[in-house]
Amino acid sequence: MERLQKIIANNGYCSRRKAEELIEKGKVSVNGEIVTNLGTKANVSDTIIVEGNKLEYPNKEYILFYKPRGIVSTTNDEKGRKTVVDLIETENRLYPVGRLDYDTSGLLLLTNDGELTNLLIHPKNEIQKQYIAKIDTAVNPQIVKKLSSGVIIDGKKTKADRVKIKKLDRRKNKTIVEIVIHEGKYHQVKRMFEEIGYNVESLKRERFAFLDLKGLNSGEYRHLTTKEVKILYSLAKK
Ligand code: URA
Repeated sequence: MERLQKIIANNGYCSRRKAEELIEKGKVSVNGEIVTNLGTKANVSDTIIVEGNKLEYPNKEYILFYKPRGIVSTTNDEKGRKTVVDLIETENRLYPVGRLDYDTSGLLLLTNDGELTNLLIHPKNEIQKQYIAKIDTAVNPQIVKKLSSGVIIDGKKTKADRVKIKKLDRRKNKTIVEIVIHEGKYHQVKRMFEEIGYNVESLKRERFAFLDLKGLNSGEYRHLTTKEVKILYSLAKK
């Protein structure tokens, strides 16, 4: 038996918080009875109906997608822009694991496994994400120290796990920086650079945990192997 909001979120229907909201609004029934108590427990064998939709238990699907710039990583966009799920052929309702900005490219996981999603995006599980940031000027090499010792974002000290200047071109006024972070704050990398006085001209996520973009071109995707999924679970549960 598990809490109803957890079953709904793990099913991939929506986030746990949204599930709690739906329960409190009387939008969820278990075996024909409306439930509004957040402490209610249920079983996956119960008939659970959320906003008129019966929870089904589809096969779990895990996709590694090379997101191009210029698409949104939510499942629908109020401005009608193209979303990542528009580019993936599947019968399942998949959700991105965290987000990349509209103008950020790179590795994005999508899945209907809500449990794994929650584990991977929780900052306490410290899943590392590696980015390549292009800066529109020649930076002071001191940025490595500054970003590694931490800058204040949303009132909290936020450190990079690793920072490396890959190329510093004083003539062309450009720098390429590799940066590894383990949190997923909104616009985190761009804001970390902003805090130290630099503008990120373009951003690409090259790695998520041990996964990279090898073998994929922008806009392409592949399914994760069973072994890769197992490793992600073991990393997140550590
Ligand atoms: N940091 C950002 O600023 N943007 C992203 O898309 C990802 C990390």
